[in-house]
Amino acid sequence: MTTGTPPLPKAELHLHIEGTLEPETVFELARRNDVALPYSGVEDLRARYDFSDLQSFLDVYYANMAVLRTRDDFAELASAYLRRCPGQGVRHVEMFFDPQAHTSRGVPMADVVGGLTDAIDAHAGDVSAGLILCFLRDQPAADAEATLRAAEPYLDRIVGVGLDSAEVGHPPSGFAGVFERARGLGLKPVAHAGEEGPPSYVREALDDLGVLRVDHGIRAIEDDDLVARLRRDRTPLTVCPLSNVRLGCVPGIGLHPLPEMLAAELMVSVHSDDPAYFGGYADDNYTAARDGLGLDAEQLRTLAGNSFEASFLDSSAREGFTEEVRRWRP
Ligand code: HPA
Ligand code: ZN
Repeated sequence: MTTGTPPLPKAELHLHIEGTLEPETVFELARRNDVALPYSGVEDLRARYDFSDLQSFLDVYYANMAVLRTRDDFAELASAYLRRCPGQGVRHVEMFFDPQAHTSRGVPMADVVGGLTDAIDAHAGDVSAGLILCFLRDQPAADAEATLRAAEPYLDRIVGVGLDSAEVGHPPSGFAGVFERARGLGLKPVAHAGEEGPPSYVREALDDLGVLRVDHGIRAIEDDDLVARLRRDRTPLTVCPLSNVRLGCVPGIGLHPLPEMLAAELMVSVHSDDPAYFGGYADDNYTAARDGLGLDAEQLRTLAGNSFEASFLDSSAREGFTEEVRRWRP
């Protein structure tokens, strides 16, 4: 927290590495790679970060990625993010990346994964990190299949698969085949569901994709039977308060369903999604939960403990971090 005491230790499980591309870096990489930008400067770009919904964000998010061209660009992007982690109390990251958004522009999978893993290896002394390959759900399932095949040489560096991009109209069921193949390759399945989409998408993610975590899942709260199932199975939900506010998924921080989800004893944790776009990294989302939702220290410890329990770390690492969370005082 921003109180002068060390930040609460936490795992970051819902973070799109491309969503850490800060406006200044967009311009720096555009200059270096000779990419023309449709903005007059950093302030003009920032002014476009007034989003009305998920799609209005995705339009800017994908457009800005045009500046990421080389292995070094991906390494610098991830290094800049990982350097921030100790200050945010982040001890472990399972970062999403969107290979289709790069391979479709001619960037080889080898450079995307190579750059990200160069950074992960360089920062391994400060923060542990893994990669989750996301399929773009607004692209054909056949493209997801081809992406998984292209990633096969790098599977030793990839912990799981996810599903992201425009949700409504693109239900999880369309990706059952590629998720089955990914699970067969030993990859852990997760998926965005119930961010803008209905509770039925959360059910499909569980039933058709076999996910071990649901990303966002805030709309699950609308369905009592689904809530009972998620509570019974202790299915982790990776909730991103600042993102939900900035994308209009909730009308304001004070109306976010996080307290209701905690009261329903759901296995929720708090994360940052696309921090360069939504106004805060991991600990800033905890601060928003404290100041905007009135969560107390015990509730913050529950969220942080859940983040380690929901991670794909081995059980001894999980227990060590959980003990640190228990000892934390604001
Ligand atoms: N939702 C779906 N796809 C995304 C998001 C998100 O919040 N951020 C980056 N890709
Ligand atoms: Zn997300």
